[in-house]
Amino acid sequence: MMTASWVTPVSTEPPTVGVAVDKEAYTHELIKKYKQFTVSVVEDVELLWYLGSTHGKEKMKNVEWVDGEKVPSPIPKAAVGWAESKVVKEVDVGDVTFFIGEVVHWKAVKGFGKWGWNLDEVKIPLQKAGRLFLVPPCKEIWAKKS
Ligand SMILES: Cc1cc2nc3c(=O)[nH]c(=O)nc-3n(C[C@H](O)[C@H](O)[C@H](O)COP(=O)(O)O)c2cc1C
Repeated sequence: MMTASWVTPVSTEPPTVGVAVDKEAYTHELIKKYKQFTVSVVEDVELLWYLGSTHGKEKMKNVEWVDGEKVPSPIPKAAVGWAESKVVKEVDVGDVTFFIGEVVHWKAVKGFGKWGWNLDEVKIPLQKAGRLFLVPPCKEIWAKKS
């Protein structure tokens, strides 16, 4: 498991998600090999930092995790949601590969509705840089109807 900030939805039909993964990461080797990955949403900044500053399978001993339902990639037990994905495209870009996966199963444990994540209920951190994170509550603004 590794922490990733460079994650984005890509298409709605089919539902896909993309992630940029450093070619040096152990996770890169695993995604290349098994052609699948799971993106989990985690609130715990310490867990995010730990999984983002340690390398290889040894770190797994110190984290509680479970296998996904459709994709056997690990999901931290602390995750508030996740998207299990099968790789449909790999884009080679400099020091990363941008993996695009079709979401075959997803779940939100709490705080997810019609308007996406309710950030009053789930405190999803946004990485600013390095060990600095922005944590909700954040100000919500509706765009005017045109
Ligand atoms: C908050 C945070 C966000 C990160 N985002 C990314 C990312 O989007 N892509 C990436 O390749 N590495 C990212 N990293 C670095 C990896 O998580 C890090 O290299 C990790 O140790 C790789 O683990 P592995 O070698 O076990 O796969 C991030 C690290 C942190 C702390």
